[in-house]
Amino acid sequence: MSSQNIYILAIESSCDDTAAAVMHNGKVLSNIVASQKIHEEYGGVVPELASRAHQQNIVPVVDQAIKKSGINKSQLTAIAFTRGPGLMGSLLVGTSFAKSMAYGLNIPLIDVNHMQAHILAHFIEEEDFKKPEFPFLAMTISGGHTQIVKVSSHFEMEVIGETIDDAVGEAFDKSGKILGLGYPAGPEIDRRAKLGNPKAFAFTKPRVAGLNFSFSGLKTAILYFIQKQVKANPNFIKENLNDICASIQYTIIGILIDKLKLATKQTNINDIAIGGGVSANTGIRQALKNGEQKFGWTTYIPKFEYTTDNAAMIAIVGHLKYLEGDYANQSVMASARLKI
Ligand code: KG4
Ligand code: ZN
Repeated sequence: MSSQNIYILAIESSCDDTAAAVMHNGKVLSNIVASQKIHEEYGGVVPELASRAHQQNIVPVVDQAIKKSGINKSQLTAIAFTRGPGLMGSLLVGTSFAKSMAYGLNIPLIDVNHMQAHILAHFIEEEDFKKPEFPFLAMTISGGHTQIVKVSSHFEMEVIGETIDDAVGEAFDKSGKILGLGYPAGPEIDRRAKLGNPKAFAFTKPRVAGLNFSFSGLKTAILYFIQKQVKANPNFIKENLNDICASIQYTIIGILIDKLKLATKQTNINDIAIGGGVSANTGIRQALKNGEQKFGWTTYIPKFEYTTDNAAMIAIVGHLKYLEGDYANQSVMASARLKI
């Protein structure tokens, strides 16, 4: 650990959460997230509404993060922000805010890739959490992304598999929508899955070569299955909801674990770190733990608040990039399709 005092303010606004965090030498001092409720009514994130809500939230969220950290903004060393990938309108709010603040305080500005941040969240200084050792495999699973990444060092990352259509979180959310559940449906499917039989109904897993994923076929299979059952019994969903949720979750987890098995075999790497909102899922956590015994894996699951979209993960990347002297300049632009 460096003997310097490095204070990073980080801002995340890539999708529908406005978040800010303050970090001191890799340790989180504050981590504030304002989740936008407005999208629930629409059953998905509405980009135009997201950017407006960011605009409203950003000042109070940053203000709260600084207050809660106990430091004064004049002590900040640098400002990190999510440059992409994400929704352009949303990214622009955080990017512009971070640029202005760094300019005003005359301190370095550091651009962060959101996908890298989900992975490097494992390097936040936390008691009782061990950090993965290089090289390891990272699986980022959320409402916007599904990737398997080979991580050779903090900044050497190679995407070795990704979804060709929907993200895994969308598979949860869209299935939930078919079942009439609220948005996002992932947490509720998880909760109900614990009460149901995972083998009650079988859904065919999509066949995608190599390490890539596909979830749109699964969504269609679930839709047709439900339509057929409801035709025969209008109360089918109500009577079988927990079993349906357990079966959907079981299928999705099976897809993820199959790909991880293949990835460990192809790379000969048995250390696996997960990140993204779906890594909160109880079933995937259990399946990874089972993998430790069954396949000799070592698995790393971050603290819950660092798995869903948050600014602490942006701060740790800011911290690591600061140590490398890797700054952005004021001409940096948000990038909706930024790659790892
Ligand atoms: O990382 P995140 O907060 O935002 C991005 O999409 O980047 O992830 C949100 C996604 C949603 O699709 C939500 O349904 C899913 O994570 N999710 C879950 C659980 N908690 C959140 N999916 C399954 N089980 C959960 N417990
Ligand atoms: Zn994310």
